[in-house]
Amino acid sequence: MSRRVLFLLALLSLPFLMAHGGGGCGGDEESVFGPPTQSACPNGSTITYANFGQAFMTQYCTRCHSSELVGAARNGAPKFHDFDTVGGIRSVSDHVDQTAASGPASTNTSMPPSGPIPTEDERKKLGEWLQCGAP
Ligand code: HEC
Repeated sequence: MSRRVLFLLALLSLPFLMAHGGGGCGGDEESVFGPPTQSACPNGSTITYANFGQAFMTQYCTRCHSSELVGAARNGAPKFHDFDTVGGIRSVSDHVDQTAASGPASTNTSMPPSGPIPTEDERKKLGEWLQCGAP
């Protein structure tokens, strides 16, 4: 491949490398967002909020991302990213995928920023659950 072609390819891939999720959040310095995991929702998936999502969020996320926390108690977690209700998760599910889930295209680990940290298996389940629409 010629150097010119390589250069063009590099240019073309820039927007993807810099992609910031579809949510229209204010882009700041270092993005917390990784690439979408491209997780699949297999036929007959049994993962639900009741049997997985709620416990996952309670264990790893809601000590910062909760509608019941304000000000400093959020530890810097942005407003409107509250995961103590399933609606709060669904409304930014692409962001959750890009910070905490794992799938064929990527394993995103920017969240949670400190322990306890979910296992990769739990992150995969999260990706599948979100892809299924967080039932
Ligand atoms: C210790 C507190 C804490 C925990 C626990 C935590 N977060 Fe965060 N979260 C933050 C902070 C602080 C930011 C802002 C980081 C930044 O913008 O650089 C953030 C940002 C985010 C964002 C990006 C929001 C935006 O639009 O900028 C998402 C999505 C997110 N967190 C999801 C999660 C998920 C999912 C979990 C659980 C797996 C989680 N977080 C656990 C503190 C936390």
